Amino acid sequence: MKKKEIINLIRAHYDCDDNLFRKTSNDVARSFDEEGDYQLAQYVMSLISNVNMFKPQSISFESQFFKKIALDSPSLFLPIPIMADIKGIMNAVNHHVGINKFLFEGAPGTGKTESAKQVARLLQRSLYSVDFNEIIDSKMGQTAKNISIVFNEINRMPHPDKVVILFDEIDVIALDRVNTNDIREMGRATSNILKALDNVNEEVVIIATTNLYKQLDKAFQRRFDSIVNFDRYSKTDLVDDIGVGILNNYLKNFTKVSRDTKLFKKILNTCPALPNPGELKNLIKVSLAFSNPDAHFDYLIRLYQSLNKQNQDLDPTKLKRQGFTVREIGVLKNISKSQAARMLKEKMDE
Ligand SMILES: Nc1ncnc2c1ncn2[C@@H]1O[C@H](COP(=O)(O)OP(=O)(O)OP(=O)(O)O)[C@@H](O)[C@H]1O
Ligand SMILES: [Mg+2]
Repeated sequence: MKKKEIINLIRAHYDCDDNLFRKTSNDVARSFDEEGDYQLAQYVMSLISNVNMFKPQSISFESQFFKKIALDSPSLFLPIPIMADIKGIMNAVNHHVGINKFLFEGAPGTGKTESAKQVARLLQRSLYSVDFNEIIDSKMGQTAKNISIVFNEINRMPHPDKVVILFDEIDVIALDRVNTNDIREMGRATSNILKALDNVNEEVVIIATTNLYKQLDKAFQRRFDSIVNFDRYSKTDLVDDIGVGILNNYLKNFTKVSRDTKLFKKILNTCPALPNPGELKNLIKVSLAFSNPDAHFDYLIRLYQSLNKQNQDLDPTKLKRQGFTVREIGVLKNISKSQAARMLKEKMDE
């Protein structure tokens, strides 16, 4: 036990700082453990898991390798099959039958990380993300050791039934052992995770995410009780639920902008391959943010341009072919309906 830890414990007591108290107690237990004083380490851990902390309702658990994730209110619009899988996870966890390891796989921006937050929120648990930057160490063998420390900490947590641990973008560490450059080092790290996953406390919910599922070590894939595929957005999901949902959320902050949901949906439908929700959200945000505040539909013009990769003035005959009405063509060209009708007629006569 170091001087700093004694000072921190005294400070935590007088500041009523539950976080600092638990973190320091964890550090103390770990150092006892490292010195071979296993019983004392366990005794310290059992003390802090039984004691009523300064703030009894708040579950806190901080260490170098974990980051607490704020569960801000979500605005996720998940397709029915993904939602059904998430509900299945809630049921499985609530049945307490040892099903606690889940892998979310899918392309970037499909809502994997946000869904992990959603799961934690619905289960009323705190969410801690494992920080791979801290774990991966260039020193030979240190990465594997860090993984052991991480799982030791997970298994000794004071309230395992009150947390979800997120291994976000786990491919950083669990790529196919045959395909990684540094085979021995990363192979050892992956093997350590595999073993640790087999023995992890069943009360803790573990969620890992990846967008490189196919390259993940097969042994790794088998460790999970359930794998949720996030690449299941239909065009209707993207247009009617996600697109409109995201737009409505943003419109609350853009008071000068006008709403035309029908036209918005038509614009999204002109794009043969809509991007994933993450990118779609960005496109909508950027279109709104860069729009001219005096032209209420300017954001729709910008959105059309980015989805159709077109910067110049929009061609009215192309818009007509894409199914836009004369009024809508007027909106997209920022002219009146009669001007649009005239322009179209002139083009047809050419
Ligand atoms: N279904 C959805 N509905 C609304 N917004 C979504 C949806 N999916 C993703 N988003 C938004 O897209 C952004 C990226 O989401 P998230 O970080 O969860 O994606 P991810 O699948 O974890 O991506 P990556 O693989 O790159 O980590 C977030 O701002 C999120 O709110
Ligand atoms: Mg993510």
